[in-house]
Amino acid sequence: MKVFISRRIPEDVVRLLQQENMEIAYNNSDRKLSREELVEACLEADLLFNVGSADLNASFMESCKHLKGIALTSVGYDHADLHAATRYGIPVSNTPDVLSKTTADTAFLLMLATSRKAFYWSRQIERGAWKDNGFLYELGIELNRKTLGVFGLGRIGLELAKMAKAAYGMTVIYHNRSRNAEAEELLDARYVSFDELLEESDVLSVHTNLTPETQYRFDAECFRKMKKNAIFINTSRGKVHHEKDLIRALQEGQLWGAGLDVTDPEPMLPENPLLQMPNVCVLPHIGSATLETRTAMATMAAKNLIAVYHGGKMPQVVNK
Ligand code: DGY
Repeated sequence: MKVFISRRIPEDVVRLLQQENMEIAYNNSDRKLSREELVEACLEADLLFNVGSADLNASFMESCKHLKGIALTSVGYDHADLHAATRYGIPVSNTPDVLSKTTADTAFLLMLATSRKAFYWSRQIERGAWKDNGFLYELGIELNRKTLGVFGLGRIGLELAKMAKAAYGMTVIYHNRSRNAEAEELLDARYVSFDELLEESDVLSVHTNLTPETQYRFDAECFRKMKKNAIFINTSRGKVHHEKDLIRALQEGQLWGAGLDVTDPEPMLPENPLLQMPNVCVLPHIGSATLETRTAMATMAAKNLIAVYHGGKMPQVVNK
């Protein structure tokens, strides 16, 4: 079987595949392939090691229906049409767990950076605008003993909640489709309705998959219900919040600030007004971007393809 690796991955992981005597075709660069290039490369392959977030939609699946397996290098799989993959009998895997702590770190970083307007102050220095500011000029707010609300308290949300509790003694509330017994036991987390989550959170952090139910779930009406001194954090997918509504809510002072690792579209355009707001911190979707975590994700993806190569089932298959 021949595997196509769509972008540069750690050498150790390439070796892992080579040790299995798999034939490898490799885009050994950081350049994202065009749709046409990806399809063309896949036509020559049996397995796809899909690095990044290429849109593997129904037409891609149809063009590549001969594939025997696709390994994604992300926990989210909204960029792959699983119904189409299933229709053609292609198993698809993701990379859960190994990135939970790192993605939670990113949410924590944004929470703290936003609360202290850190990116704004850094921009001031770069612009040569560091001067003797007033005593009360562009102050931050503190997280100590505040309430963290988690929307989607799964593996990543739990890691964030643990950090928030340990570092700042934050009270944890959450809203999920189902109760999280571990969080309730470990952190005294309280399950609340969606409206209570909006109304009670000082920091509201989003950790959910993008689905038809969660798309644009955080809109103008939600932001109106939140506290005026609340911070909104999103490290999941940019389409979970309605960006124009978020901008308006921040401009009108309905919210205190926002920290985003995900935007809609990505990349965010440089003229986006969010980038000029002192109380907003934006990162370019680097939630899992550490050497250790990316290596663990790539290793997991490789092991899923190796399982197919040996005639087995992918351990992290997301479609049946
Ligand atoms: C994930 O793993 O889903 C990250 O957001 C990268 O896309």
